[in-house]
Amino acid sequence: MKVTVVGAGAVGASCAEYIAIKNFASEVVLVDIKENFAEGKAMDLMQTASLNGFDTKITGSTNDYTKTAGSHVAVITSGIPRKPGMTREELIGINAGIVKSVSEQLIKHSPDVILIIVSNPMDTMTYLVHKVTSLPTNRIIGMGGALDSARFKYRLAQAMECPTSDIDGMVIGGHSDKGMVPLTRIATRNSVRVSEFLGADRLQKVLEDTKVGGATLTGMLGTSAWYAPGAAVSGLVHAIACDQKKMFPCSVMLDAEYGLSDLCIGVPVVLGKNGVESIVEIELDEAELSQLRDSAEAVKATNTLLNDLNL
Ligand code: 2OP
Repeated sequence: MKVTVVGAGAVGASCAEYIAIKNFASEVVLVDIKENFAEGKAMDLMQTASLNGFDTKITGSTNDYTKTAGSHVAVITSGIPRKPGMTREELIGINAGIVKSVSEQLIKHSPDVILIIVSNPMDTMTYLVHKVTSLPTNRIIGMGGALDSARFKYRLAQAMECPTSDIDGMVIGGHSDKGMVPLTRIATRNSVRVSEFLGADRLQKVLEDTKVGGATLTGMLGTSAWYAPGAAVSGLVHAIACDQKKMFPCSVMLDAEYGLSDLCIGVPVVLGKNGVESIVEIELDEAELSQLRDSAEAVKATNTLLNDLNL
């Protein structure tokens, strides 16, 4: 099982490290445009193999996509991260061109590849890949909801002062500070709804802290976060590589699901060897549906910016 990660920056390198440590891939190829950067990250990571007990072979390449040939899954993290005070949407001007050319290169050398897009604004970048490639819709996946859900569970566990492992919760909608829809109504602590433990005000605070989880860390770190994004996307790669039929909220092209079409936005999907095995339509109440529709409008508005870029 060969995996390519494009972008050897913090997110890409973290993703490669987590994939290696999970030891399900035979090979991970890290690609970056910066001379010797991916090669250096790969060598550093390989020097942890005896310490972290993995056999995955990690190699690096300076923009030579022939080295990615035969990849089953490819993760696109390339592009610029946001700085404090920026929205993800502000990155579109630079990142759209990068994502387009990277996708084309990956598919040229791995025609059967499943693409996972991380670069922001992620929902629009995922939509862009549908527009500029002829990959089937089940093989184009945007990673945002898995990360947002992890932040949601973190905030819930903090609020209830309990282990995160006790929490189940999902965030759907756009991967944006305003567009996320944390499903507080159906989140649970060991099968008990969290509303049994937290009042409305405290749950609202959890919801708000979740939505700005990325921006909060960007303010603290001076750049986008990388451990949780890297871990989140490694989980999607794992589910595909091992045909787990595992359910995650992912940004996928909708065609009337949830009453939405012609956009990529976070909804529950089952991931397996074919990429998106199915889109799961869960029961949402009117408020949740309305939030999802509002989020979809915002994502579609960002998508129209691609026209200005002639993409
Ligand atoms: C985040 O929320 C990078 O969009 C990613 O941290």
